[in-house]
Amino acid sequence: MNTQKIIFSGVQPTGNLHLGNYLGAIKQWVNLQKVYDCIFCVVDYHAITVRQNPDQLRRQVLDTAKIYLACGINPKKSLIFRQSDINEHAELAWILNCTGARMSDLENMTQYKDKAGKDANASVGLFDYPVLMAADILLYQTNLVPVGHDQVQHLELTRDLAKRFNHDFGQVFTIPEVQLQKTGARIMGLDDPTKKMSKSAASPANFIALTDEPEVARKKIMRAVTDSGAEVIYDPETKPAISNLLTIYHLLSGIDIKTLVKKYQGRGYGDFKKDLAEVVAEFLTDFQAKLERFSDEEVEKIFARGAKKLKPIAKETVKNVKEKLGLL
Ligand code: AMP
Ligand code: TRP
Repeated sequence: MNTQKIIFSGVQPTGNLHLGNYLGAIKQWVNLQKVYDCIFCVVDYHAITVRQNPDQLRRQVLDTAKIYLACGINPKKSLIFRQSDINEHAELAWILNCTGARMSDLENMTQYKDKAGKDANASVGLFDYPVLMAADILLYQTNLVPVGHDQVQHLELTRDLAKRFNHDFGQVFTIPEVQLQKTGARIMGLDDPTKKMSKSAASPANFIALTDEPEVARKKIMRAVTDSGAEVIYDPETKPAISNLLTIYHLLSGIDIKTLVKKYQGRGYGDFKKDLAEVVAEFLTDFQAKLERFSDEEVEKIFARGAKKLKPIAKETVKNVKEKLGLL
């Protein structure tokens, strides 16, 4: 690694990765890797905060890495690794639990509140999830973390934990910044444009999975909820549904939103949706063809290479942390 900015991000190997994951997070990774040193993690320790089927988890870890590759992450430029291959993630998370993380911080996390609700059987891991995420980021002296909008609160906690440690025990951690897409940081559900598109949505009509058959995706777009009225206008406040579809159209086609609005002036939702359905189907056809090119063996090799390069960096950070704490 050289002295230029370090980028770190990750996705959980659970559920169906969808257009929101791609447009909000992974798409920006692809651009960032052209300029910076990038590290992309498959966060399997995060996945086990809720019960997983072991065979399915094994499969999804590999499939998630394949999705990174098919989206355009170049394994010759960027490092891709499996979180549980580097045990320092769990070790640093424990240390941060003790040195900076407060119960009150974690009780305020909206993702935890959404996922655990009032479930008294929710795991302690689910509660502690943001601290593990902070450890992921801080181990590698990360400068920038490209994620979707729902992760901003976790990034604020990460910054707080780093600052508290540096203040209380001495300088160890770089303070990371969050990086959001200008448009697309929060892709909304197709069945309910007031809530984000989500892997764990009750209905598959909520999302377009990256592995959806193009024909299925086409139907999902045609059936997507629309706003009252019939005009194609971009205004997320009053027209959340059509604005969300315009955002997806813009990000997949590269055509700016203003141009799209002009194109569909006076033509109504039907024409617009038909064209967007085509754009989405084309994107998926192309994406899925790329996805097929990667084998499990290849992914395992990429993981091994990532872990080999990253382990010494993680070790060094933990060593510095332990020295400051009097553990070494
Ligand atoms: P997750 O599915 O929770 O592992 O999220 C992986 C990445 O996708 C994170 O950076 C999220 O912020 C991002 N993401 C998830 N859902 C959306 C969404 N609906 N819109 C934009 N980004 C999203
Ligand atoms: N919590 C993130 C999510 O649900 C995934 C994640 C884990 C992550 N560790 C990370 C993202 C470190 C960025 C950096 O989407």
